[in-house]
Amino acid sequence: MTLMQSQNLQFEPLTAIHADALFPILNTSSVLAFIDPTGEPPSLEELRAEYAARERGPVDLITPAEKWFNVAIYLKADSPTVVGRLEATSYGEWGEIAYLLGEAWWGKGLAFEAMSWWHDYLESLVPEAQWWATVHPENQRSIRLLTRLRYEEIDPSRRPNLQSYDPGDLCFVRSAPAKSQLQRSPIHK
Ligand SMILES: CC(C)(COP(=O)(O)OP(=O)(O)OC[C@H]1O[C@@H](n2cnc3c(N)ncnc32)[C@H](O)[C@@H]1OP(=O)(O)O)[C@@H](O)C(=O)NCCC(=O)NCCS
Repeated sequence: MTLMQSQNLQFEPLTAIHADALFPILNTSSVLAFIDPTGEPPSLEELRAEYAARERGPVDLITPAEKWFNVAIYLKADSPTVVGRLEATSYGEWGEIAYLLGEAWWGKGLAFEAMSWWHDYLESLVPEAQWWATVHPENQRSIRLLTRLRYEEIDPSRRPNLQSYDPGDLCFVRSAPAKSQLQRSPIHK
């Protein structure tokens, strides 16, 4: 079982309890800019209900293999602070990921750290899944993050069922690690 922590962060399965801490993070125009540019941000009550539903899991399944994964991200400290959330939905051999961090924690490499842990964690639970992401073309921070995580841009028509795709989005898929990275170093006696 993958530990629910990385060097600077720890992770907890997302529940309604996390709504209070994530509410002010989500109510920031910079955070919403590319994930919900036109819509109203959810109220605290709506967010609690949404996270409770996420905790219960999928209802109207797209495929029987559908699984939901959601965690709150905490910055490690004497009293850990919620700084964001990670999401993933898998449909057997493929899945979609999403992520957000409060603006105060951008530009420190923490999203990369969280997402590196997230891929290790998901790999331990659904090793067969190939991960896809959709991004607004002007969301340069997100595109840089995906590129650092070995995602490559791909034509969205290659995966017509992407739930997070909005017209005009760029689409990315995570490439497999290079064979050399998979090979173990020889043991020298
Ligand atoms: C997308 C998002 C998660 C990216 O966050 P981020 O902090 O830029 O990403 P990273 O953790 O990879 O940090 C990279 C930055 O930290 C800097 N950095 C500082 N210390 C670092 C370290 N030790 N290691 C790595 N990077 C470091 C890098 O130089 C880089 O800065 P730059 O982008 O200005 O060049 C964030 O902008 C966000 O939550 N946006 C709102 C929600 C959203 O758009 N989600 C994605 C929808 S597709």
